[in-house]
Amino acid sequence: MPPDRRPTPYRRKQNLETPSAIIPAPPSRRKKKTFGWEAIVLIFTVLFGFTYMILYVTLAPSLDKLPPIKGPDYDNKLWGTYRSHMYFGLRTRDPKSPLFGMMWYEQPDAVIRPAIRHWCNQGDGISRYGWVAADGRSFGMQNITEKTGPIRTNWINDKGGFTARISFNMLKGRRYSVIFYLVSQYSNARFGLGTHLSEIFKGTSDYLGDLKVSVDSSKMDSISHSTLLLDDHLMLDKLDEYILSNTKAMEKDKKIVFVLNENHAATEGNFVAVQLNIENSVDLEVSLKTTSSTRNWPEGLENSRRSLKTPFSLASKNYTTIQMDMGKVALSNMLGSIGYSFGYNKVNFSHGIYEYGPQQLFSAVPSRPFFPRGFLWDEGFHTMLIRKFDPRLCLEIIVLAKYGPVLARIYPRLEKWNAWLRVSQMGSQKNGYRWRGRNAETYMELNPKTLASGLDDYPRASHPSVEELHLDLRCWLALCGRVMERLSKLYGTDAEHRKYAKQREELTDLDELVKMHWSEPAGIFCDYGKHSMSVALARVPTPSKERHFEYQRVTSHAPQLQLVSNVFGYNSLFPLMLRLLPANSKYLKLTLEKIRDPKELWTEFGLRSLSTRSPYYQARNTEHDPPYWRGAIWININYMTLSALKYYALQPGPYQSDAENIFQLLRANLVRNMANQFNRTGYIWENYDDRTGEGRGSHPFNGWSSLILMIMSDNLET
Ligand SMILES: *[C@@H]1O[C@H](CO)[C@@H](O)[C@H](O)[C@H]1NC(C)=O
Ligand SMILES: *[C@@H]1O[C@H](CO)[C@@H](O)[C@H](O)[C@H]1NC(C)=O
Ligand SMILES: *[C@@H]1O[C@H](CO)[C@@H](O)[C@H](O)[C@H]1NC(C)=O
Ligand SMILES: *[C@@H]1O[C@H](CO)[C@@H](O)[C@H](O)[C@H]1NC(C)=O
Repeated sequence: MPPDRRPTPYRRKQNLETPSAIIPAPPSRRKKKTFGWEAIVLIFTVLFGFTYMILYVTLAPSLDKLPPIKGPDYDNKLWGTYRSHMYFGLRTRDPKSPLFGMMWYEQPDAVIRPAIRHWCNQGDGISRYGWVAADGRSFGMQNITEKTGPIRTNWINDKGGFTARISFNMLKGRRYSVIFYLVSQYSNARFGLGTHLSEIFKGTSDYLGDLKVSVDSSKMDSISHSTLLLDDHLMLDKLDEYILSNTKAMEKDKKIVFVLNENHAATEGNFVAVQLNIENSVDLEVSLKTTSSTRNWPEGLENSRRSLKTPFSLASKNYTTIQMDMGKVALSNMLGSIGYSFGYNKVNFSHGIYEYGPQQLFSAVPSRPFFPRGFLWDEGFHTMLIRKFDPRLCLEIIVLAKYGPVLARIYPRLEKWNAWLRVSQMGSQKNGYRWRGRNAETYMELNPKTLASGLDDYPRASHPSVEELHLDLRCWLALCGRVMERLSKLYGTDAEHRKYAKQREELTDLDELVKMHWSEPAGIFCDYGKHSMSVALARVPTPSKERHFEYQRVTSHAPQLQLVSNVFGYNSLFPLMLRLLPANSKYLKLTLEKIRDPKELWTEFGLRSLSTRSPYYQARNTEHDPPYWRGAIWININYMTLSALKYYALQPGPYQSDAENIFQLLRANLVRNMANQFNRTGYIWENYDDRTGEGRGSHPFNGWSSLILMIMSDNLET
């Protein structure tokens, strides 16, 4: 298992496109500034505890009081790469969409299990893959560096279907099998097999009507094929197993060949596949047609690629070729990885777990192999990038609609969201807040995690308690107040406006913030709670256990209520990042100094998450849980810090030029290091090692790390 898998309950690996059984279908059960980045952050940033993103449903019982979001009002019959976790898979944005996909393997020279590729998997050892160009809507071009040569998967859609060109350029003599399949997700879509590649699948459904899939190649003569048809209850996460369990080894020309075990007993079913056996270099063209095509291959693709306009101008900024390539890959992969899923939200009510839905979710994903589904606070960062490129696509993500009175519909939901946060995460002091969900019982964790915050293992008070107050959450709610004050002026009542003005006023009050969260001796903003300055994870004898010892948290000084002043890191930057510090305040000065100090957060690769002076710096949380937000460089927080630095660089005041200087240096460091790592590995990474700059964690990670493009192109929100 990769070392840095986020072991959080709401980040379970579960690549479902629908609930796992395919058939039967799942049972039914003003000023631009006003809604700029802040609203987007607010819409997405602060969610925790739920399995899936709940975008426009927060409190289900009162849902009927909210204006309906009618949707989706985009064309739900257009095919796209909305199966984020596949090397190559296509579907439409509709629960009834058939799923198209590709698998491949190298023909083994012995009777062993072929190493089949289907879902993106870091364990496949594919050195590079990703979208070279994509618009998230109509076309994509992907390069995959397989062990024995490059593969390209390029595609475009048209009104009723798609065409894909798959190119294999493998080493001479290498034999490969490519499998294309179509699987139905509901009982009214039925598929059959043709005898010729020119009409290899055909089918019908009440959703798409008649459809037909053809495969073509310039080397048709040298390609043999075999087919498979199944009609059964199928699990979507087992499709490659079905292929392999229906594969047999044959001998042909003194070589072993694996082919599909053809069985033509049934004439139609819910899963059809064709396997093509290829050698060396082959171009395959696969098309799905429902109605007449409107675009031709390959001019269509070339035209799409050429007409792709991005608002991210990097020219004349003196970037190297590698840096520019990284910028392109950041954008293409963000767009090419957008996924569509469908299923139920699990909502925890007092009387039990309630399945809410079914719901549709259209969202970008942090990482195709690792986190191929929506995450709320990640999506806030994703949409910052997407909305610059294609504002309508951004709205389709947020409200499944591309126009209309979007904010008016979002406003009542944001109200509930804000109210829910204020009530459910209320702290023990007025205007203080506490993330829920820390484990106060455990002594197995060095510092019990705060998953709700999104900063997982970032150290907080050592002994979780109800007295605890979290700095980042208070700052988020100050931001909520600021945004809601503006939105209520446009969409709310006077009473609401007064209420949010009060929230904003109270939570942005500097004296109050300082009183609650500033440590004068340490000169930092931090959390407050039951905290011991002296804890460690130590080997403790436990005679009853098999190993005779275990790692436990050992506390040498009893915890007491105090500021968590031996932890300086990302959490401490929230007052700066959310612009709660006046431009002439000493708090800004001291925070800037600490940012710039190499013993604290400064590295030549970007800002690290935790000061090297903190006892938690690079500390494991348990024996099995390596540090995650305890030193590593994360791009989303660097992005927020850069935006704030730019903001302070524009505010007249004594620290204006300090902010500008730090901004310039930090930006250059981030871009240089990420590009070096991109050059070295071909990937953008989840986070970066603060000692070596090396990419760490899951990869490719084209979620919020792609904000590097916003940074490079000076698209910071000030
Ligand atoms: C993708 O592959 C094609 C064909 O091999 C090549 O011409 C192109 O440069 C590649 N693009 C990138 C970004 O690697
Ligand atoms: C780019 O580099 C040239 C030559 O080193 C320099 O004159 C120019 O000012 C630089 N431009 C920018 C935008 O940094
Ligand atoms: C649901 O909430 C209750 C009360 O907060 C809690 O005790 C329970 O563990 C929660 N259940 C799950 C599955 O999270
Ligand atoms: C990219 O990597 C190659 C080979 O490791 C190296 O020669 C080259 O200088 C690197 N380019 C940049 C811009 O870092």
